[in-house]
Amino acid sequence: MLRVCLLGTGDYAYVHADWWGRVPGARLVAVAGRTPDRVQRLCRGRPGVEPLSMEDVQKSGRPFDLVDIVTPHSLHAEQTVRALEAGYHVLVEKPMATTAADAGRMVRAAGSAGRRLFVVSQYRFIPAFRVLSRVLGGVRVRRAKYSMKATLFSAGINTDRETWKSKRETAGGGLLIGSLVHPLDLLLKWFGAPQDIVAKTGAEIRNIEVETRVQASWRADHGARIELEGAALPGVIPAAELEIELENGRKVRVQNRRFDPRGVPIRWKLMELWTGFWGRAVPSRRDPLARQFADIVQSLATGRRAAVEGADGLSVIGAVEKIYEAALKKSDN
Ligand SMILES: NC(=O)c1ccc[n+]([C@@H]2O[C@H](COP(=O)([O-])OP(=O)(O)OC[C@H]3O[C@@H](n4cnc5c(N)ncnc54)[C@H](OP(=O)(O)O)[C@@H]3O)[C@@H](O)[C@H]2O)c1
Repeated sequence: MLRVCLLGTGDYAYVHADWWGRVPGARLVAVAGRTPDRVQRLCRGRPGVEPLSMEDVQKSGRPFDLVDIVTPHSLHAEQTVRALEAGYHVLVEKPMATTAADAGRMVRAAGSAGRRLFVVSQYRFIPAFRVLSRVLGGVRVRRAKYSMKATLFSAGINTDRETWKSKRETAGGGLLIGSLVHPLDLLLKWFGAPQDIVAKTGAEIRNIEVETRVQASWRADHGARIELEGAALPGVIPAAELEIELENGRKVRVQNRRFDPRGVPIRWKLMELWTGFWGRAVPSRRDPLARQFADIVQSLATGRRAAVEGADGLSVIGAVEKIYEAALKKSDN
C-alpha cells in the first residue's frame, strides 16, 4: 500500500485528497501545510489522516512513502528537493518548477536520493489523447495546432493581485506555465523538442502581472510545424481544439469541449454548481488525474517507468522558458 502525504491545503489539494481516496493500492495518511486550521479542515472527515506541519515533511522516517506537492509554483523546487532528501518519493503538481535550472536540480536530487519523481500531467490520461498517442506513433505529421479558450478561473489566473497566482515571482508566469503546460507536454511527447520558436504573450487584465494570452509556433524535432495558442477571458465557455494535419494532407481534429483546461468534464462543473461545491470536482477512478495516480502506484510497485516522470516535466519547463524568451525578444524588436 502506497502511503501518501499531501503537502498543501488549497483548492486543488482537496481534489488530490479525494482522488487518492479512490485509487487502489494507495492511501492518504497525512496532510501538511503552513496554516494549522486549514490542515485540520482538510483532514476533517478523513479518518486516519494525520495533520502535519510543513517541517514534518522534511524529516526522515515518517510513516509515508510519497509526498504529493500541491503548492504555489515557486515553492515546488525547494519542497521537492527537501522531501527527496528526506527519503520520500515525490509527486509534484504542474508546473514542476518556474525555471529549467530548478527542474534540473529536482531531477538530479531524485537520482542522488535514489527516489522517484513524478509530475502531474493528467492530459496524458484523457482517453482521446491516449488514442491519438497510439495513432501518431505510425504516421508523419506536417502541422499540429492546439488552441484553447479558458476562463480566468479555469486557467488558474486570479485577478486579485495579492494572490501568488497573479505574480510573476510566485507563479512564474500566467496562462502558459499555469495551463498551456498541459497540451505542451503532449506536443513535446508526440513531436519532439521545439526549434526556432516565435512567440507573443499579452497581459490583458489590469492589475495582474502574468500573461493571459499566448501565441507560439515552432518547428519540432520530428519535422512538424507546431502552433500553440490560448486566451483566458472572463465569462467564456472553456473550449480547446487540437488539429493535426498529416503528411498526406488529411486532418484529424479533436474538439475537447467536454473538458475544461483542468481536464475536468464540464458536466461535472454543472454538478458542482448544483451541489454548491464550486472548485471541487466529483471523484471518480476514471478521471484523468485518478488514472495518473494509479499509474504512479503501479510504477512504484513494479519498478517500470511511469507515464510522466521528472525528465518529462523538465522538457516542458525547458520549452516554457524558451517560449517566454522568444516572446521577450519579439517585444524588444
Ligand atoms: N493539474 C491541474 O489541472 C491543476 C489544477 C489546479 C491547480 N493545479 C496546481 O496545484 C497547485 C496549487 O494550486 P491551488 O489552486 O490549490 O492553489 P491555492 O488554492 O492558492 O493553494 C495553495 C496552497 O499553498 C500554500 N501556500 C501558499 N503560499 C505559501 C507559502 N509561502 N509557504 C507555504 N505554503 C504556501 C497555501 O497555504 P495556506 O492554505 O496556508 O494559504 C495553500 O495550501 C499549483 O501548482 C497549481 O498549478 C493543478
